[in-house]
Amino acid sequence: MEKKAILEKFPRSPDVLLALLHALQRANPQNYLTHEDLELAAQYLGLPLSRVRDAVTFYTMFSLKPRGKHIIRVCASPNCHLAGAWSVLEELKGELGIDVGETTPDGLFTLECTSCLGVCGVAPVMMVDEEVVGNLTPLRAREVIRRIREGG
Ligand code: FES
Repeated sequence: MEKKAILEKFPRSPDVLLALLHALQRANPQNYLTHEDLELAAQYLGLPLSRVRDAVTFYTMFSLKPRGKHIIRVCASPNCHLAGAWSVLEELKGELGIDVGETTPDGLFTLECTSCLGVCGVAPVMMVDEEVVGNLTPLRAREVIRRIREGG
């Protein structure tokens, strides 16, 4: 979808800034916001560019650099940590062959850590794009990655 068409889905209100940035980021196959995206959002909503940039750099779900097609975000907050998130993370690093903050050479996955996702009852948790996956074990995390690789 063209960026102009994305913008026009939103009212010209500063309240929609985060939703608009999400939509612009999702429209990019490499899951990130370009400088042009930030300028478009600022101009469309009548906000200073610095305010848009502040929002993008504050929230970890936004990126200013190209990422993989799928974003794997492992919760690193205390409840998940105590429930075994680090062993899940180590498994994912090994399965993907990358470290946190990196993208696989085939451009399929980016691995990130995040703070509490608000679903501590099913810790440890990761998000795969928009989907929350809880009650993780290293084995289950590996199976999720393999299923995505196989197109599932
Ligand atoms: S601590 Fe991980 S979801 Fe809350």
